[in-house]
Amino acid sequence: MHPMLNIAVKAARRAGNLIHRASDNIDHLTVTKKSHADYVSEVDRAAEQVIIETLLGAYPNHAILAEESGTQGDSEFVWIIDPLDGTTNFLHGYPQYAVSIALMHKGVITQGVVYDPTKNDLFTATRGRGAYLNDRRIRVSKRIELADSLIGTGFPYSSFEHMEAYMAIFRDLMQKTAGLRRPGAASLDLAYTAAGRYDGFFETGLKPWDIAAGCLLITEAGGMVGDLQGNENYLKSGHLCAGNPRIYEQVLQVIAPHLTDGLKS
Ligand code: IPD
Ligand code: CA
Ligand code: CA
Repeated sequence: MHPMLNIAVKAARRAGNLIHRASDNIDHLTVTKKSHADYVSEVDRAAEQVIIETLLGAYPNHAILAEESGTQGDSEFVWIIDPLDGTTNFLHGYPQYAVSIALMHKGVITQGVVYDPTKNDLFTATRGRGAYLNDRRIRVSKRIELADSLIGTGFPYSSFEHMEAYMAIFRDLMQKTAGLRRPGAASLDLAYTAAGRYDGFFETGLKPWDIAAGCLLITEAGGMVGDLQGNENYLKSGHLCAGNPRIYEQVLQVIAPHLTDGLKS
């Protein structure tokens, strides 16, 4: 394993263990509302601290971009961290949440970890070296027909700016696919796409920490990732489409007629 991935895995497991212990006691947690339907708990913050301590312990000069504490440092190496992706699920005892850690080097994501503490599932990727679930190599699905495909997504829940377009895409995909799923943790949705459990995925309004690790998992598993027009600007725009190469193209075609200016990058 690449030494930088190794440190990321150590950080993700530490945070995951902390989250797992705290999941026994969710009714007693201090929870703050960041904006409409957007919550943060003391667990998110504690997990983030453990991750940052672990990463900076090994690489004190690296920079950090973390969901709860923002940016620190200035380096060509930037760790992008979502300490608890799926906070709403976690707070409800719904077992679908994960720790997501990615390393960006000179603007390119080179390492990614998504760790699901509820199942002890560790998804990892190093650029150019493939994607893994625990010790097993993973690949995107081989399905070629949209009509046979299972598509993951996330609903708009806090900002409803793109809701009309989203609903139109959702309505079309509902009729053209075998099914849609919205489990509530984008990093895991992307990891599942990499593992071939979904054939495709789309969502609007995501943040870099939701997707940086998951997108590397998908490309290293032989899949495609882009914004809603199939361009590369997704980490910035947060509007994302992904999948195996055949289904990715077909989902983009369904999306195309519904794109508003705000959804184009
Ligand atoms: C959220 C989850 C959810 C997605 C949201 C994210 P959080 O992350 O990934 O699946 O639909 O857009 O904000 O807030 O639980 O870390
Ligand atoms: Ca998140
Ligand atoms: Ca989070």
